[in-house]
Amino acid sequence: MNFQKICVLGLGYIGLPTASTFATNGVNVIGVDINPHVIETLRNGNIHIHEPGLRTVVEAAIKSGNLTVSSTPEEADAFLIAVPTPFYEDQYNEYEGRKYKLADMRAVISAAEAIVPCLRTGNLVVLESTSPPRTTIDLITPILERSGLEAGSDFFLCYSPERVLPGQILRELIENARVIGGVTPESAKAGHDLYAIFVKGDIIETDATTAEMVKLMENTTRDVNIAIANEFARLAEKFGVDVWEAIGLANLHPRINILNPGPGVGGHCISVDPWFFVEAAPELTPLIYYARQVNDGQPHFVVEKVKQALDDLKDKKIAALGLAYKPDVDDLRESPATEVVHLLHEAGAQIKVWEPFKPHAEMKGIDMASSLDQALANADLILLLVKHTEFVSLDPKEIASKTTARLAVDCVNAWNVEEWKNAGFNIIRFGVNKSQ
Ligand SMILES: NC(=O)c1ccc[n+]([C@@H]2O[C@H](COP(=O)([O-])OP(=O)(O)OC[C@H]3O[C@@H](n4cnc5c(N)ncnc54)[C@H](O)[C@@H]3O)[C@@H](O)[C@H]2O)c1
Repeated sequence: MNFQKICVLGLGYIGLPTASTFATNGVNVIGVDINPHVIETLRNGNIHIHEPGLRTVVEAAIKSGNLTVSSTPEEADAFLIAVPTPFYEDQYNEYEGRKYKLADMRAVISAAEAIVPCLRTGNLVVLESTSPPRTTIDLITPILERSGLEAGSDFFLCYSPERVLPGQILRELIENARVIGGVTPESAKAGHDLYAIFVKGDIIETDATTAEMVKLMENTTRDVNIAIANEFARLAEKFGVDVWEAIGLANLHPRINILNPGPGVGGHCISVDPWFFVEAAPELTPLIYYARQVNDGQPHFVVEKVKQALDDLKDKKIAALGLAYKPDVDDLRESPATEVVHLLHEAGAQIKVWEPFKPHAEMKGIDMASSLDQALANADLILLLVKHTEFVSLDPKEIASKTTARLAVDCVNAWNVEEWKNAGFNIIRFGVNKSQ
């Protein structure tokens, strides 16, 4: 199939790199977003998200004349949906006492509805948003068929999960293997043709529901594996063991690969996607459900750790380093670090937060520092929440000269205990039940 023009709905972390990469590969792309700020920013030649290399690709795409942005879709050969699929913050269902979260598919529904008037015979529609099993068949197909065209025969329809790693999106978009699930084999073939424009990794065709499940299985496996690492950290603390040492030794076994424990699991994917399985089949997913509970409970363990270090949290000054959900990104969505900060604030501590990737983050009631030095000055305790590269490489001697704090809690095993001790700090590490 030949694609002259495509329309990408949703210009966020996934849609914008995808739209720009198609554009720099010679395709005429209309990037659509309902957020006027996004459209305005891109029209002014700026970008609204941080992702290494993204600015260069977006600039090249716009300069080539192949990428234009709009608030509404228009006729095209293919439509890609890359809009958010979060869960509802305030709606739950329950199964045998297990209260679970529900997928909020409103953005996907309205994106599909917006495509209907533009849909023509022979078009291809691809859903990229991470979605509950059977979304393509049960939710998207009936919406698109309101056009009077039939999915799989009049137009092609696919689900293709995005599996890129934030921080490496532009490289992985091109190099990763891509799974294309069609509602018919012909649809999968059309999807294959589209992504072959720039994908250098394998492109594997399957059916739509398998492709949906593949994505959810990947993220659910990560979540469950992190949950077991977090339980190991709790057990290690109970038994006076250093969990990091124990994990390192266990991982010497050729068939064991225990992940890192930490303050929790966040982001738009791993902390969200397992709920899609639980909602779709609560009777079959107790393990997935309890893994979510374990990971969601981690911020409380961090607060306990800080409490032990300071005796009482009231009016204690804490310099919190990092808010992002993982190292070296500016994404705060579902970040456990933000929850830790809120919990400490509620417990009466005076928090100053330094997040180098988002220094002006809006955190209700929380004082954001304008520099690392400002966060550190007058602190009673330094709390390391995110393993940003610049935090790992901090020189403890230099830090000691900038702060009154001589206590540090390291939740991510970033700092060399001996070096920090030699600089005069008492280091408390997550997963180790002793001050070092
Ligand atoms: N961010 C990641 O690393 C990642 C990785 C794999 C998969 N995904 C999945 O990709 C999807 C998109 O994620 P994201 O991180 O790019 O989200 P995002 O929030 O960064 O961007 C989504 C964009 O879609 C826009 N939007 C919302 N409704 C719209 C509509 N009806 N029409 C047009 N635009 C609309 C929003 O304004 C926003 O700019 C999600 O399902 C997510 O789970 C994300």
